[in-house]
Amino acid sequence: MSGRMKNRVAIVTGGGSGIGGETALRLAEEGAAVLIADLDPEKSGNIIEKIKGFGGRAEYSKLDVRIPSDADTMVAKAIESFGSLDTLVNNVGGGKGDDLINELDEETWDFNFNFSLKPTYYCCRAAMPKLLESAEARPGAAIVNLSSVNGMTAMGLPAYAAAKAGVEMFTKNIAIQYGKKGVRSNLVAPYTTRTDFWKPIFDADPATVSRLADINPMRRIGNPIDIANAILFLASDEASFVNGALIPVDGGFTAGTDIFSRSGGRPGEQFWSSHAETGNF
Ligand SMILES: NC(=O)c1ccc[n+]([C@@H]2O[C@H](COP(=O)([O-])OP(=O)(O)OC[C@H]3O[C@@H](n4cnc5c(N)ncnc54)[C@H](O)[C@@H]3O)[C@@H](O)[C@H]2O)c1
Repeated sequence: MSGRMKNRVAIVTGGGSGIGGETALRLAEEGAAVLIADLDPEKSGNIIEKIKGFGGRAEYSKLDVRIPSDADTMVAKAIESFGSLDTLVNNVGGGKGDDLINELDEETWDFNFNFSLKPTYYCCRAAMPKLLESAEARPGAAIVNLSSVNGMTAMGLPAYAAAKAGVEMFTKNIAIQYGKKGVRSNLVAPYTTRTDFWKPIFDADPATVSRLADINPMRRIGNPIDIANAILFLASDEASFVNGALIPVDGGFTAGTDIFSRSGGRPGEQFWSSHAETGNF
């Protein structure tokens, strides 16, 4: 196959659906052989079928990201299936717990760290020797990790936010440790994105979607393809001098707020004119 990921081998954790599923498809469309490492064989099978349907290469490895030895098994499976490893996308993660911190129990804290931060360490640690081997042979080895807007700005999910902020600093440290050896490491930080994680919440209260869209500068939530395309860019040689960077894929949510232009008229009209009269800025 031709494409931006021609002759590359990629692992996508959580590649069975959502952002990971779309990422696996985009990487494969661009020529990568993809190992889908996921807890759910059935969902993963659907993505593998789609990839094989357009002539791509894909295999499955059973992964529970909370189990360190599963990360080793996943890397071994990629090598056994495809012979090398160039790209690691650490996509599994998620959060819960909007409690005030004096009510935040340790179980919730541990859930977030064990699901969203520690697996990034397990999988990077397991994959690094093979990524280094690939980097010695040819340019192009790269890690892409998933953070969240919650890792950048406080939104009332303290444990999840702390775990994702941890992913960010962990990734930047790998970037400066391994950049000189030819392995780049970067992050994407999505805004709310329509995946299976949100399905029961959106089904129970469809207005949640419009509420989340309304507070975003682009007045919509994300689709998995929005995030997958940014991951593909960071994994590809188009990003060959991008290392230790975080791309928010968030419609501008972390850029700031357009709250002052919401009163009507031209942007900021009512707010700014009332303050100009009083000189009260
Ligand atoms: N969806 C969002 O709104 C959103 C927003 C910001 C950041 N993110 C981040 O993006 C990433 C992907 O989110 P998503 O919504 O696509 O995920 P998701 O919950 O839809 O799940 C994706 C895949 O992960 C697999 N999975 C679940 N538990 C697993 C485990 N223990 N081990 C291995 N695989 C497991 C599932 O089978 C599924 O195929 C996460 O790191 C998440 O924190 C998501």
